[in-house]
Amino acid sequence: QWSSGIGFVMAAAGSAIGLGNIWKFPYMTGTNGGSVFLVMYIIFLVLLGIPILLSETSIGRYAGLNAVDSCNKIKKGWGFVGGIGIIGSFVILSAYNVVGGWVIKYIFVSGDDLNAEYFNRYISEPVQPIIWTFIFSAISTIIVIGGVSKGIEKVSSVLLPLLFIFLTIIMIYSLTLPNAIEGVKYFLIPDFSHIKSIGDFARIALNAMGQVFFSLSLGMGTLITYGSYLKKDTNMFKNTVTIVTLDTLIAIISGLLIIPAVFSFGLEITSGPGLIFETLPVVFSRMKFGNIIAPVFFILIFFAAVTSSISLLEVMVSWFSSKTNLSRTVSAIICSIAVFAVSTLASMSFNVLSGSAIGGMPIFDLLNFISDKIIMPIGGLFICILVGYVWGIKSASREISNEGTLKFRFEKIFNITIRYIAPALIIIIFITSLINM
Ligand code: TRP
Repeated sequence: QWSSGIGFVMAAAGSAIGLGNIWKFPYMTGTNGGSVFLVMYIIFLVLLGIPILLSETSIGRYAGLNAVDSCNKIKKGWGFVGGIGIIGSFVILSAYNVVGGWVIKYIFVSGDDLNAEYFNRYISEPVQPIIWTFIFSAISTIIVIGGVSKGIEKVSSVLLPLLFIFLTIIMIYSLTLPNAIEGVKYFLIPDFSHIKSIGDFARIALNAMGQVFFSLSLGMGTLITYGSYLKKDTNMFKNTVTIVTLDTLIAIISGLLIIPAVFSFGLEITSGPGLIFETLPVVFSRMKFGNIIAPVFFILIFFAAVTSSISLLEVMVSWFSSKTNLSRTVSAIICSIAVFAVSTLASMSFNVLSGSAIGGMPIFDLLNFISDKIIMPIGGLFICILVGYVWGIKSASREISNEGTLKFRFEKIFNITIRYIAPALIIIIFITSLINM
């Protein structure tokens, strides 16, 4: 058990804050119309993020078991909701490890004078990216085997503030670059001309929804598992708001760091997953002490990424070892090898497999598509149904209010969002985008 609510907040924030905030959020904003994406993202944070995060945590604390068994304890037969999370974690992690590998590579090269094309050259070569991906996967595996996740939380309580400070310093530098204001406008001033049709609207909405799920680690049983370690006297609503605020702060600072720099250097804002790797080295090359700041910054991103990847691996390993009765070590190795096999294909989709597509998408994109746009929303939808209709708002509120000892002022709003608004939003966005495709 966590000795205090702070331990839980650090662990959950460690899972939530990762590549999703620093790498994915800026490029998703760039490919989805800038400010319009940000507006939808914030709306979905409130309508989906907060209620679903609170629901998952309370399921976990109430049941006190792993994701599958917790859902089964709420009602027999609902363990499949946790099961969705195990499949989802596998899919997410296989793409995540590839990007983790890119981050490690950049720890070593970013002090050099890199231009924006360096990244594309790097990923179009097959062998090296796979080696770094292997190293990234191996590090998460060793941490999960060691069962030292608890120690990692201590480490992340030091590194998280450091990450925050570094991000802020580099953000301030970015904002003073010539023409940076264009990027700030693109990011912050709503410009609805990016939405020209229902199709645009549905696409941006689906991407913003997927990003909320991804960034907060929702719908995959992670927070059920973490909630199960919570003491009965913590204020879960307050913790939820803290986690969402921290996660959003890091995402917005990352946006204000990358987007103005992209505009200032005349780079391509819509360039996709390579965006931070193309932009940051250019920022550092012009910054005083950039050659020292760059590797330190990538080390901090690496730590943020590892605290997220271990949360994904942990969900799989704890389930796998309890099902097979294999030791934690063997389970972790088997799970990681399986994930690595898919990561290899994903990494090669930028080079030797770039011609092959499944469903019109390269494998890396396909994995992201399946996780962000299918598995996580479906997982989230089932959490809403499980809490709103199966377990019931009364029981959930009793758990959230610590049997009535805390006042849960938002019970009514929680009731309406989890039973009607969140499920309706997920279903509508899902169906509109399916029709559009
Ligand atoms: N939220 C993490 C990030 O932003 C990624 C992550 C960790 C995740 N655990 C998850 C995403 C569970 C979905 C579900 O980098």
